[in-house]
Amino acid sequence: MVVGSGIKIGKLTSKSLKFLKDNRSSLANRKVALFVTCGAANEESSRAEGQEKYLDEMAAKNLINEPFSTGLFGSVYDPEANHGLMFKMVNRSVRKNLQKQGIDPSKRLNYRYWDEIRTWARGLVEKLKNCS
Ligand SMILES: Cc1cc2nc3c(=O)[nH]c(=O)nc-3n(C[C@H](O)[C@H](O)[C@H](O)COP(=O)(O)O)c2cc1C
Repeated sequence: MVVGSGIKIGKLTSKSLKFLKDNRSSLANRKVALFVTCGAANEESSRAEGQEKYLDEMAAKNLINEPFSTGLFGSVYDPEANHGLMFKMVNRSVRKNLQKQGIDPSKRLNYRYWDEIRTWARGLVEKLKNCS
């Protein structure tokens, strides 16, 4: 089974966490591939932290067995999107960070690379074939 989630304030989204918690024992009998899409994946310098905090630690806490595979994918940054109050707060530091890198934070930025995501998904199929 493939479980994917966005990250909100350092954690998997509440729906994804609830899913993992509610299905903890049945997921232990399956191969579980976990992927996240998050801001931490957008820059090389924060990818290791994203892997550790959002995939390795989340899997260790919420899955009985190690995940079959993990995927760390970038996000779409849309300054116009209405994500509510939390986004406004998070957005201040995101904007500063983008400006520091010389990137215009008023533009929509797409770090969601579909080829990378497809390659990961195809890799899962190959890995599964090699298991059986
Ligand atoms: C309120 C809010 C908080 C976020 N917090 C984080 C965070 O702590 N770490 C991170 O890497 N990305 C963070 N992000 C970026 C999201 O993980 C990213 O936009 C992701 O693509 C969201 O998935 P979705 O578009 O499917 O909701 C945050 C985004 C929002 C709107």
